[in-house]
Amino acid sequence: MMTVNNDSDRTSPTGSSKAWGGRFADVPDARLEAFNASVAFDVRMIREDIRGSIAHARMLGACGIIAPDEATTLERGLWQVLDEYDRGEFALTIADEDVHTGVERRLREITGTVAGKLHTGRSRNDQVANDHRFWARRQLVLVADGLVAFGEALLTLAEQYPEAIMPGYTHLQRAQPVLVAHHLQAYVEMLLRDLERVRQAWKRTNVLVLGSSALAGTSYPIDREMVAQDLGYEGITMNSLDGVSDRDFVLDALYACSLIGMHISRLSEEIILWSSGEFRFLELADRFSTGSSIMPQKKNADIAELGRGKSGRLYGNLMAMLTIAKGLPLAYNKDMQEDKEGLQDSFDTILALLDVFPPMMQSARFNVDVMAAAAVADFTLATDAADVLAKQGVPFREAHQVIGSLVARCIAEGITFADLSDEQWADIHPVFAEERPPVDVWTSVSSRNIIGGTAPDQVEATRAGQHVALLEARYWVVDRLRVDNQLFERNA
Ligand code: ARG
Repeated sequence: MMTVNNDSDRTSPTGSSKAWGGRFADVPDARLEAFNASVAFDVRMIREDIRGSIAHARMLGACGIIAPDEATTLERGLWQVLDEYDRGEFALTIADEDVHTGVERRLREITGTVAGKLHTGRSRNDQVANDHRFWARRQLVLVADGLVAFGEALLTLAEQYPEAIMPGYTHLQRAQPVLVAHHLQAYVEMLLRDLERVRQAWKRTNVLVLGSSALAGTSYPIDREMVAQDLGYEGITMNSLDGVSDRDFVLDALYACSLIGMHISRLSEEIILWSSGEFRFLELADRFSTGSSIMPQKKNADIAELGRGKSGRLYGNLMAMLTIAKGLPLAYNKDMQEDKEGLQDSFDTILALLDVFPPMMQSARFNVDVMAAAAVADFTLATDAADVLAKQGVPFREAHQVIGSLVARCIAEGITFADLSDEQWADIHPVFAEERPPVDVWTSVSSRNIIGGTAPDQVEATRAGQHVALLEARYWVVDRLRVDNQLFERNA
């Protein structure tokens, strides 16, 4: 292996160190360098950049485009760059411009001129698209991992309250009683859809772009299938122009993150409401709560407030990328460099949320008595009363009228349904002489015994299905991470 630092492959008359320096008569202005450079953020894809180059070098050697020993030298040198980076011995600089040229610069320092052969049949345009997909697909798997953990935490909480009942709301007005578990499991349904979305995004991301080269493909007899297999991609892009300029995969991920953030913000709002003195449904663990610097009595749900607020930046990143991509002519444009920071921020944000929400939820406690009292207040069993009439043949609209007037009468007299005697019920409607409407929430909840309803048996059955779906997703995550990790084993 050559170790000399040989710069003879630079052709710039100005001595510019830029990969594109040859055609320029002057060195770049320092302000251009600072403005143009992407090293500050594309360094996060350095592992993928190096591993992608290793696959490219192997393929160039296997196809006889470079000599086999050159391919070996490049591969060894690239692993060394990765080791040096991991040990903190190699860092990118602004002058490197981006991670791709930075890695190649270090490779040249290690291997000498042969490093100049690595970029054969390749362009930074397909290289950056490859790095970004390679990096994003792993982040998507990590998000899926977090979603599974969150779903399981909510199910664990639901299992601790199999019989707890709360008011269900519409318009934030008490509507009908539901099981607390049913309410929690509604969020698990959202998370399962999020998992599906993340996996769909992963599928569209997991496609090899390399070989598109700058825009038109390449005249070298490269083997794209070989590279795809080496890097664990499931498919290959079929149009070089589209390959280098498609950022749909970024948008898929940003949208998936936005929806996860939206679901977390809805749950957050409920946590905040339930933790208030007005509701008192929920008590967050002290270790997941904050206080006030001035009001000694305060206990705040800061995590939930941040969970509600984070959707702002998630939507912002999505809107930014939609705007960046709009109206861009084919193929690569430098605008596309703007695709990275937003996605990094969205992934960081979602992973941080999915780190803290599961333990916060699992350590929370419900005030079941307060919830049960609220569940029966404000005539939440009025629909059940109307249903008793309708089931005996009274048209539902008429039943609705009868019970509506009864509610108005009770409100005026300051009583509830439970205060009415058998005689009073019989006066309200002859059907009630035979059958009194339920006055306890348990009867009401148990009667909603259809698939998707809030009856305890149904809720338990649904929960079992959710466990299975989460477990299946967990297997997928473990499998994907295993494949991804294997790519970084030497001589893999
Ligand atoms: N830093 C660039 C990006 O993120 C890499 C691709 C540069 N390609 C080019 N033709 N200048 O998009």
